[in-house]
Amino acid sequence: MSGFFDLVHHQRAYRTFSDEPVDDATIGRLLDAAVHAPSAENRQPWEFVVVQDPALRSSLLDFAEKAWDGGGREFAEARLTPGLMADVERGIAGGGYRDAPVLIVVAADIERGLKVTVPSSIFPAIQNLLLAATELGLASALTTISMGFTEDLQAMLGLPAHVVPQAVIPIGHPVRPLGPSKRDPFETHTHRDRFGTPW
Ligand SMILES: Cc1cc2nc3c(=O)[nH]c(=O)nc-3n(C[C@H](O)[C@H](O)[C@H](O)COP(=O)(O)O)c2cc1C
Repeated sequence: MSGFFDLVHHQRAYRTFSDEPVDDATIGRLLDAAVHAPSAENRQPWEFVVVQDPALRSSLLDFAEKAWDGGGREFAEARLTPGLMADVERGIAGGGYRDAPVLIVVAADIERGLKVTVPSSIFPAIQNLLLAATELGLASALTTISMGFTEDLQAMLGLPAHVVPQAVIPIGHPVRPLGPSKRDPFETHTHRDRFGTPW
C-alpha cells in the first residue's frame, strides 16, 4: 500500500482464503494495531481470542452456518445484491471462511467500561485490525452472523459471562487480491449545516 488513503480504499471483506498459514508475529502486529484504537475512558474493553486449532475453528464456524441456515440466508436474499449474496454464501456455507487459518474472536468486557460505550469502543479496534491486515497484504473479514450464539461461543471458548463476543474475524492470505471498494461518493451522504443542504 502506498499510503493511508490508498489503504482505506483497499480494505475489503474477503470470503475466500488460501491455505497459507499466518505466523504469530504477524498476528501480533494486527493485534497491536487493534489495541491502539480509541475507546471510551480509555478502558480498552476488548478481549481477543485467536483461534488456530482446526477443530475449534470448525466448531466456531458451524455457528455461522447454523445462523445462515436458520433464517440468515432467507433474510439476506431479500436484501443483498445477487453478487454480494453469492459472496456471503461462499464465505459462510461454501467453505470460504473454513480455509482461513486464523479466526480472531473479538469480545467486549462489559464490566471494564460503561455498558453504553463498550460496544462502540470495540469496533474502532476491529477497524484498526482490518486496516492492518490490508496493509500486510492479508485477507480478512468482519463477521457478526454468529452473534446470535454468543452464549455458545462463550462456552466454547471459556469466556466468562461478562466477556461478550462481538465479531469473528477470519484472517489469512487472499487467493487473489480484491480491487478497491465501491462506495457512494461521500457527497451523497454529507450535508452542510442542516440535513438536505448539499455539501
Ligand atoms: C457490522 C458488520 C457486520 C458484518 N457481518 C458480516 C457477516 O456476518 N458476514 C459477511 O460475510 N460479511 C459481513 N460484513 C461485511 C460486509 O458485508 C462488507 O463490509 C460490505 O459488504 C462491504 O464489502 P467490501 O468490503 O467488499 O467492499 C459485515 C460488516 C460489518 C460492518
